[in-house]
Amino acid sequence: MDEPNSTKIKIQEIVKDLVQLPSLPMMIAQLMDKIKDPKSSVPEVAHIIESDMAIASKLLRLANSAFYGIPNSISSINNAIVLLGFNVIRSLALSAVVVKLFPDQKQPPVFQREKFWKHAICCGLAAKILAKHIRKYKMVDSEEAFCAGLMHDIGKLVLEQFLHFEFDKAINESISTRTHLFEAEKKIIGVDHTEVSELLLKRWNFPLELLVPITCHHAPEKASISIEMTYIVHMADIICHGLGINVMDNEVAPPTSPRVMEILSLTEEKVEELGDQLNDAVKEAQDIFKILHST
Ligand SMILES: [Fe+2]
Ligand SMILES: [Fe+2]
Repeated sequence: MDEPNSTKIKIQEIVKDLVQLPSLPMMIAQLMDKIKDPKSSVPEVAHIIESDMAIASKLLRLANSAFYGIPNSISSINNAIVLLGFNVIRSLALSAVVVKLFPDQKQPPVFQREKFWKHAICCGLAAKILAKHIRKYKMVDSEEAFCAGLMHDIGKLVLEQFLHFEFDKAINESISTRTHLFEAEKKIIGVDHTEVSELLLKRWNFPLELLVPITCHHAPEKASISIEMTYIVHMADIICHGLGINVMDNEVAPPTSPRVMEILSLTEEKVEELGDQLNDAVKEAQDIFKILHST
């Protein structure tokens, strides 16, 4: 096990390597600020989104997809905000932007971007399904759950892009030793993808209630806020792995927290039922994937 000091040095070295971390476009940063402000009005938010026509048109296509249940009936950003609400709009705009922030590069042969995004979108859908289930007992926002699920492994893209060689080594290590990738990343690189996600999302001024579920998705007991949401993202990841919706062949499924069933008021039968719902939603994931990757 690493001494705390040497771990700190490694993290600092990696941060130095990550100076080129992508920035969030100004429009998204402004949008996130505006949506946080309870005094913001619909036209103000629409005005910000319309300042970037490429994002605005992708957002409209997402809002009109079958995923939101009112296909082909939303004709303007104003309309979309009124019908879907601020949180959905933030989640759609972020999704549209983040996919384009990491240009495809030479990828480790076993890490495929397409599979990465399908896993991410399905985790978002699974998190949304879980949030709807738990809403009977606790107040959780299903759209925030989608966003946290979608972004949960974002640190892997940073590792792939900026520490390509080491990440490739960590993947091979995890497959050959049958350990989970986050353990192999820690051993080979010194940090795992959740710590890298934290660096990136802090830089993007992500609200803490979204950041914690993402950075604690492999250790939900560490969450001090957004506890249910953190367990939701954790379980969404486990369900996706259970259904074979993962990034690499032969990937070792992450460990399941012993408290997840109790915290999310789940039974084995309920998990199976939610898994079936997710399987039905995979077609939607395909549509979302196509829209997010269109130009
Ligand atoms: Fe992960
Ligand atoms: Fe994952």
